[in-house]
Amino acid sequence: MSSELTELLRLAGRAPSAHNTQPWTVSPSGALGYALSWDPDRELPVGDPTRRDLFLALGAFVEAFLIASGAAGVPLRVEWTLEPGQTRVARFVRADECYATPFTAADLRGRRSARGAYIPGVLPDAVLAEAEAELAGTAGLWRGGTRALAPLLEEADRWLFGDRALVAELRRWLRLRPVPAGRPQALDGLTGRALALSRVEERVLHEALRPIAYGVLRPVGLPRVLAASSRGLLRYDGSVLVVTAPAGSTPMELLEQGRRLFRCWLRLARHGYATHPLSQLIDCGRTAERLAGMVGARPLAVFRVGRPVDEPVRSVRNTD
Ligand SMILES: Cc1cc2nc3c(=O)[nH]c(=O)nc-3n(C[C@H](O)[C@H](O)[C@H](O)COP(=O)(O)O)c2cc1C
Repeated sequence: MSSELTELLRLAGRAPSAHNTQPWTVSPSGALGYALSWDPDRELPVGDPTRRDLFLALGAFVEAFLIASGAAGVPLRVEWTLEPGQTRVARFVRADECYATPFTAADLRGRRSARGAYIPGVLPDAVLAEAEAELAGTAGLWRGGTRALAPLLEEADRWLFGDRALVAELRRWLRLRPVPAGRPQALDGLTGRALALSRVEERVLHEALRPIAYGVLRPVGLPRVLAASSRGLLRYDGSVLVVTAPAGSTPMELLEQGRRLFRCWLRLARHGYATHPLSQLIDCGRTAERLAGMVGARPLAVFRVGRPVDEPVRSVRNTD
């Protein structure tokens, strides 16, 4: 791999993806360009059967790659190559000028999902307006209170932890417990630290989700217990943001919305605000419907936003 591509990937690889699957692959293509596709082994067929999160993440990656190219002084622009039945997404081709963006390498490195406690406080109107401006044209942004959504989150978590196939898929991407000495550290997925779990909580979750334990405990209330443990997550006075979009977005629209969503998160991060996506609220049919009723439109992404009490961990990447 060329040193230019290595440098671009180290930065662009900081893009977010559901379960930190990092589904993107980039290879040299044509004269001084690059081709982007996705790795079907890194899809989430159970949790993301419509590929909503896949295309949002790939859109975020496109934006991150262009920001990285601008930061590295490499003039590139994107050409979409998406076709039904193919895993090709886009080509980055040489341009006359570098990608124009207010975001920098420091923004890519600094943005993080934060799943621990947030300092109470509503997202200020001025910051909300700036975040919404990043979505302009492709999606809307709704701000609600954390407490109002707490019962919905508990219901969505109960649904999630009660579904065998969803839990099996989640388990594939969980990297709980320290890796034994001598074994390589996985550079994808979700560690206990990234999930803001204590050592004890990490251990308990690891044991409870093992296939045999889960099979025994699921019928006797494990989903309720696990959902109850996240009950406190929204029981403070803060903000949840919901990105809304017209129903039935095409993959191309999702890619564009993913670019915008990422810019929205980068804009919030500039102001010191971290985000914590709560996609189970829109993956679970019942809670998605109720959320759509509250918001008055179809929710495309939902996340709490705030200033984290503790500095969030830097999540792992294959390209670090
Ligand atoms: C489309 C999308 C959906 C996501 N859904 C969730 C979610 O439901 N719960 C969660 O904790 N994180 C979610 N995330 C955050 C990812 O897990 C996170 O981006 C990844 O672990 C990398 O960490 P980072 O954002 O700190 O770089 C989502 C991210 C994306 C792009």
